[in-house]
Amino acid sequence: MNRREFARLLAIGGAAPFVSPKVGWARPVDLPPTPASPDEKFWTAVRDQFVMPKELAMLNAANLCPSSAPVLETMYRMTKDMDQDPSFDNRAKLGDGRENTRTLLAEFMRVTPEEIIITRNTSESNNLVSTGIDLKPGDEVLLTADNHPSNHTAWQEKAKRYGFTVKDVPVPNPHPGFEHYVEAFRKMITPQTKVISFTHLTSTVGDLFPAKELCKLARERGILTLVDGAQTFGLMDVDLSDMQPDFYSGSAHKWPCGPKENGVLYINKSAQSKIWASIFSAYPGRVGVSKTFEGFGQRDEPAMIAFGEALTFQTKIGRAQIEKRSRELTQALMAGLKKIDGVKIWTSPDPSRSVAVLSFQPGSLDVRKLSLALYQKDRIGCATRGGQDRPGIRLSPHFYNTHAEVERTVAAIKKYMSTGV
Ligand SMILES: Cc1ncc(COP(=O)(O)O)c(C=O)c1O
Repeated sequence: MNRREFARLLAIGGAAPFVSPKVGWARPVDLPPTPASPDEKFWTAVRDQFVMPKELAMLNAANLCPSSAPVLETMYRMTKDMDQDPSFDNRAKLGDGRENTRTLLAEFMRVTPEEIIITRNTSESNNLVSTGIDLKPGDEVLLTADNHPSNHTAWQEKAKRYGFTVKDVPVPNPHPGFEHYVEAFRKMITPQTKVISFTHLTSTVGDLFPAKELCKLARERGILTLVDGAQTFGLMDVDLSDMQPDFYSGSAHKWPCGPKENGVLYINKSAQSKIWASIFSAYPGRVGVSKTFEGFGQRDEPAMIAFGEALTFQTKIGRAQIEKRSRELTQALMAGLKKIDGVKIWTSPDPSRSVAVLSFQPGSLDVRKLSLALYQKDRIGCATRGGQDRPGIRLSPHFYNTHAEVERTVAAIKKYMSTGV
């Protein structure tokens, strides 16, 4: 089945109302074309494509995003088709759909399908890299000090087993700028450095790292790079042909608004001979590196196909417009929070150092109580960070949020800062 035939298959029933005896929602009107300068009316139409109740303002994209109705419908339709006839013959088209998603992923990141593996999530992608590179005593892995456990604990644990050394490049706050990090890495690289691994945009306080510059620095010295893209894949208009990492990881269920438990691992053609596959089983992918690296056994192919639909949805709106919108909402939140006495913002306001993950400490308020009040009383969803290291509330708006939600959030935080929780 070629791409056009598969697109036609997906479209069958596409406009029909999504109704099932117990699960159902009104199919929103079709998404209007994106105007050259999208206004609030357009973004409200985008919001209408999501099934969240209107009064719920979810500002937690860095953790988990909702899927749009077209994505949910695709997943339901393909699952139903499979369960109505689970024969090999009927399921053949699901394999075509999975490959279609691989092609869409490659287009999305401007690389080739031969370099794409569809995984379960960023955690799995990161671990396939830290397990798959052959490292031995004497070798060094350089990390930034602020990574998710799947890109930090994972390296430390494997270092215990294989005997290599892990070193951290400190991550000061406030963000000291791109040049600082390029210099810091340059100074810490030794002839033993074999891998550099860092998070493109941190989930803690939303620090943006100079991915292209660090990959270049490493490439010139024959060092492999893993860029954890959990917080940029589907948020920024990431172009891997420009960044040129060896490995880049991401999750469908974060910023791409795709199905849960789907993810991606990009393996640069030039790095494919430098990594071992970790899992061998049946049902691998059909092209390039997926033939050896994606044999994970039976998969949820309807979800993989819905992942492709999520990418199509974002592409239709416009990747650059999505990034611009998320940045604009974040800047509006930051401007509002700055005016509240006692709020300490951890995230840099400089657009070259941050994107759409914003963390702040709400004076001496208990962050868990504040987040609970925001959710229960004001219907605002956010994340909290405890402990001593940059504690507080994290807000991560995306293209389905509106300025009205931003204003409502700032007003609610202002209220609790003056009355307590
Ligand atoms: C930077 C970063 N890396 C990896 C992950 C893990 O993502 P997942 O749970 O989808 O595997 C997260 C999750 O928040 C993250 O923020």
